[in-house]
Amino acid sequence: MTARSDGAGGTPGRDAPSALAGVVERCGGLLYGGDYNPEQWPEQVRAQDLELMRAAGVNLVTVGVFSWALIEPAPDRYEFAWLDRVLDDLAGADIAVDLATATASPPPWLAHRHPETLPVTRDGRRLWPGGRQAFCPSSSVFRDRAVRLAGRMAERYADHPALVLWHVGNELGAHNAHCFCDVSADAFRGWLRIRYADDLDALNDAWGTAFWSQRVHAWEEVLPPRANPAIGNPSQELDFRRFSSDELLACFTAERDVLRRVTPEVPVTTNLMAMWVFRDADYWSWAPELDLIANDHYLVADDPRAHVELGLSADITRGLASGRPWLLMEHSTGAVNWQPRNPPKAPGQLRRNSVQHIARGADGVLFFQWRASTAGAERFHSAMLPHAGPDTRVHREVRALGADLARLAEVVGSRVVSEVALIFDWQSWWAVEQFAHPSVDVTYRDRVRAWHAALFDTHTGVDVVAPGAELSGYRLVVVPTLYLVDRAAVETIERFVRAGGTALITYFSGIVDEHDRVLPGGYPGAFRELLGIWVEEFHPLLPEQEVRLDDGGTGSVWTEHLHLCGAQAVATYSDGPQAGLAALTRHAVGEGAAWYVATELDDDARVRLVRRVLDEAGVRPVTRAPSGVEVVRRSHEQGPSYLFVLNHRDAMVEVDAAGVDLLTGAEVSGRITVPPGGVAVVREVDA
Ligand code: GAL
Repeated sequence: MTARSDGAGGTPGRDAPSALAGVVERCGGLLYGGDYNPEQWPEQVRAQDLELMRAAGVNLVTVGVFSWALIEPAPDRYEFAWLDRVLDDLAGADIAVDLATATASPPPWLAHRHPETLPVTRDGRRLWPGGRQAFCPSSSVFRDRAVRLAGRMAERYADHPALVLWHVGNELGAHNAHCFCDVSADAFRGWLRIRYADDLDALNDAWGTAFWSQRVHAWEEVLPPRANPAIGNPSQELDFRRFSSDELLACFTAERDVLRRVTPEVPVTTNLMAMWVFRDADYWSWAPELDLIANDHYLVADDPRAHVELGLSADITRGLASGRPWLLMEHSTGAVNWQPRNPPKAPGQLRRNSVQHIARGADGVLFFQWRASTAGAERFHSAMLPHAGPDTRVHREVRALGADLARLAEVVGSRVVSEVALIFDWQSWWAVEQFAHPSVDVTYRDRVRAWHAALFDTHTGVDVVAPGAELSGYRLVVVPTLYLVDRAAVETIERFVRAGGTALITYFSGIVDEHDRVLPGGYPGAFRELLGIWVEEFHPLLPEQEVRLDDGGTGSVWTEHLHLCGAQAVATYSDGPQAGLAALTRHAVGEGAAWYVATELDDDARVRLVRRVLDEAGVRPVTRAPSGVEVVRRSHEQGPSYLFVLNHRDAMVEVDAAGVDLLTGAEVSGRITVPPGGVAVVREVDA
């Protein structure tokens, strides 16, 4: 059952504060390395791998992610000898191992013997093996086999000196997040019976089945939202997404539990995908189940502001880790292979990306992968060791990064502290992007990105938190398009505002309850009172249509017929369908204030508004910096703080700072100069 988190982004599992710290301690500093797939190479290659890894400062590699078919060539026949040698050699080279349970991609024999384990699409197509992750997450046959393998791995390597971390599966749900087969249908019914306490009336009520003759009279009639001739039931769809997230999580916990039984001292994680290409798991409910939070991140090549998106991904990941350090499990040294065009990273970009993740809370950066594959679907994916070998720009940058990370070792364990929270929610994301809404242009990721980017551009630190997270430590909370929200989350924001906080809530928030049923009586039902407004009618705009505001800004995508009832208009429309009505409002509530934005502001207007609201809330930037320069501070609870300066521009910049630049060892007294595309990390004096 989907558990909503009750704290700042959930509480990672057992011994969470120390699980990552323990790995870091064993590895002797910031974690550095990548996926290592030696099974793709003759054994003689390994000596060179180890030598180059050591020269690059690699201290942790992920082994075995895709090796099920080699480890278990036939059911219950295990061949560990080759893996024993790999781990022994790594231990000999003093390189620790994040050992995968190898269950990320089932071997061909599983599908051959049990075709029912293969996933089925919404329109009833069975997907075949030939790629990876070809399994139905609800398949008990798959889960039994996976748990059995994880158990065998744990028994085999429990005492191995290289083992420091378990890596369950790989990017769970990346390719098989939703399965619509009969096994899944059965599991979905079981999940619903728990959710609705075996009460079919409760399910009918939640799903609004009076509409279009959808009332079900027996549990057997309930199905996953398979392809149908019309528009599906949004509440059913939403529950199916929750169910699917829970099923993937259950694949994780099933393996985790057996690992914990055999190796209680070794933390267990899996690599999440808190980035823009993936939305199918509610990671707020996953986070408490992981011993440490690990994330993968890849840049989108044709995104001119990809570094801002990287910042958001890192902030979400830190939120999942409840503000604690986390691990970047994968990113790339250069090109990926799965976008339409895959350019390499520019010189220096690999370093800047890595340090940016560290600035935002990572205590380690790993890559996919160590040595570039020559065969298979990823043969054109970059690696730490390219096809052309060690005498290459990329490998030289990899070695240089290893040296940089050694210089940054003292930041380990420090935290990013922010005065602003941004509420982000996977369930609301699923709901707001359902079919048959007022406008297809109201997409969630773009709204969240835009507000996060405005904070980024004002050099303001921000924590990403779950709905319902405790807000009392913040001055400002930003709530972009939180379409679906429950009462408890609304009350947390109300309490925060009454106690003196500032909330900024944007359009199409608070529209439906947790079943995606509209809250009647004037939009936005959940936030009407807090905002001191009510909305009579939505009026989305057509593509290219823009409206002018009387404060000089413009709006697009959305307008609405808004009535004030307590709030004051801060800006009104000068033209368009709502001319003369409020587009921005502010409502004084208790000691604080709730702002509302009823249209999609242009970028400048958004940044202007953010500055104004930050000012009112008394939030100061991390430090003054030119635009295009990112500044982030990490601080030890008792000890120094570190100012990270990342120059995303192609010009030299200067930023106020005082202390020591850890990367160069130079004293910094008052100002630091950072070259184009460069980075600096200053241990601050007197922070
Ligand atoms: C990740 C995945 C890796 C590799 C990489 C390529 O999503 O976990 O196994 O496929 O992408 O970018």
